[in-house]
Amino acid sequence: MCGIIGYVGEKECTPILIEGLRKLEYRGYDSAGVAVLETDSQGTRTQVIRCRGKLSNLENLLRKDQPSGLVGIGHTRWATHGRPSDENAHPHKAGQVSVIHNGIIENHLSLRNQLRADGRVFSSETDTEIIAHLIDEELKKSGGDNLREAVRRALKQVRGAYAICVLAESAPDQIIAAKNASPLVLGLGDGENFIASDVPAILAHTRKMLFLEEGEIADVRKTGIEVCDLEGKRIERAPKEITWSAVSAEKEGYKHFMFKEIHEQARAVTDTLRGRLSVESADAFLDDVDLAVADTKKITIVACGTSWHAGLVGKFLIEQLSRIPVEVDLASEYRYREPIIGKGDLLLSISQSGETADTLAAVKEARQKGARTICIANVVDSSIPRASHASLYTHAGPEIGVASTKAFTTQLAALTLVAIHLGRRTGHLSEAKASELIKELLLIPSKMSDIVGLAPQIQVIARRYGQARDFLFLGRGNNYPIALEGALKLKEISYIHAEGYPSGEMKHGPIALIDVHMPVVVLAPKGPGYDKVMSNLAEVKAREGKIIAVATRGDKDIGTVADEAILIPDAPSFLQPLLTVLPLQLLAYYVADFKGTDIDQPRNLAKSVTVE
Ligand code: M6R
Repeated sequence: MCGIIGYVGEKECTPILIEGLRKLEYRGYDSAGVAVLETDSQGTRTQVIRCRGKLSNLENLLRKDQPSGLVGIGHTRWATHGRPSDENAHPHKAGQVSVIHNGIIENHLSLRNQLRADGRVFSSETDTEIIAHLIDEELKKSGGDNLREAVRRALKQVRGAYAICVLAESAPDQIIAAKNASPLVLGLGDGENFIASDVPAILAHTRKMLFLEEGEIADVRKTGIEVCDLEGKRIERAPKEITWSAVSAEKEGYKHFMFKEIHEQARAVTDTLRGRLSVESADAFLDDVDLAVADTKKITIVACGTSWHAGLVGKFLIEQLSRIPVEVDLASEYRYREPIIGKGDLLLSISQSGETADTLAAVKEARQKGARTICIANVVDSSIPRASHASLYTHAGPEIGVASTKAFTTQLAALTLVAIHLGRRTGHLSEAKASELIKELLLIPSKMSDIVGLAPQIQVIARRYGQARDFLFLGRGNNYPIALEGALKLKEISYIHAEGYPSGEMKHGPIALIDVHMPVVVLAPKGPGYDKVMSNLAEVKAREGKIIAVATRGDKDIGTVADEAILIPDAPSFLQPLLTVLPLQLLAYYVADFKGTDIDQPRNLAKSVTVE
């Protein structure tokens, strides 16, 4: 989720790059940099200026030494491979080639080894530097005069997601841009052209935009743009006129960041799974994270809020697939009950921000007692990863809305990877079952997109029930944490009282609350426990409660009891939480939208809670 900008024209490019980066800082802010081609009578040199931290750090550096040139690229980084540091900041330069990149290169390890064997020396931990070396190598092979062709050949060796901009000293009038599974847009000006990861970065200069499609390469010069595919075939496409305001462009046209982030989940989950699964070897890989499976007797998961709900689903997955016992603790409680943990135990913390004070304290406590500490986090090199022995990062990208959505589903994806990885190593998950599960997991992102398409139906339901004073959310098994999450989402952004309960517990108390005024949201997908949930629904119906069911498409019975049925694609029960949560996020969103609350910054809440 890095920000990218490029300029080629007749103006000094550095101020244009910085202005664009300022508009992109919400995409990532752990380092920033620019590369500018400086041309004079002696020839062309690249000036690369980059540093760790916010854009203001880069601006301070540029105040002392501002590169001067008409062609340049700029980047603001959200770390995925390699911690935030000066060395890992983009642009990356290899030989005469400079590259900025947004995305994840899946085969980075094998490419790095191959380039090292060819004598290439690396100065960063990033996957991006590999692209720079590959292009420089190809440029050398072809005599250095066809940058577009060198980029094309290099990209043929790369697997993964990328949006890149490339400069070379032997091509002082052009930028080559390319895209696969990460966004990139070209802005068409008069005697100048722009490249950006997002429209807002260049909206002040032009409204004529050409969105690159998967596997396309653009040769961008001040006089024009040529687009071709990875085979070198020319592509003609008319640009579009963008009518968004600057504010709505930042949200890519969505009304709120939360709504945008709900829509981003298919992409975020894909990125989190990318390069970490193999159907052939029926296994999940956790980057370099060593779970020390053979030594692990027990796992304790600690987290807060939404991340704790992910932990509850994680317990279900890990215990079922690996048979290692798992406890799940609220981090805010953990430290104060003298936890029994030590050598041979694994503490798995979960945190989007990596900064939650309670979770951080729990990690420190467990580490001090001798446990191995691993975290699942979204923000690279934040406090919790730094305090842990190792980190498995979700690749959700920056989450701006206070109500967590894509961070949650990527945590579920990461926990599924952990459970498969453990299950294969404890021997409880057979090869056949693992490969079946992995195939199904890879289908989840497209099913998520399908569910987001139900937004208009959910909007109608939200309008119908959004005046209620209380809501009850019910689920069984691994859908019980989703009931908790649905209730939390509604509370946080709509300020309506809501409770999540295991459906089987309803008769032990909450049933007393049910009457004609109480909407009951029930997670009732097909799978184990379905019949029991249907019995619970009958109990609600008998007390005139209003039932909103999330059920499996094709379920003929649900309509006979539910007042509203949101029908979602089928999935194995292990993976259902990745899907069942989406309608609940949308329901909370639309209820809050009708109420007119401040959805992205709800009252009394903060995005990361750094006090205990
Ligand atoms: O950054 P973390 O995942 O550690 O944050 C934990 C909670 O504060 C967080 O999930 C909170 O509950 C969200 N606002 C829920 O939407």
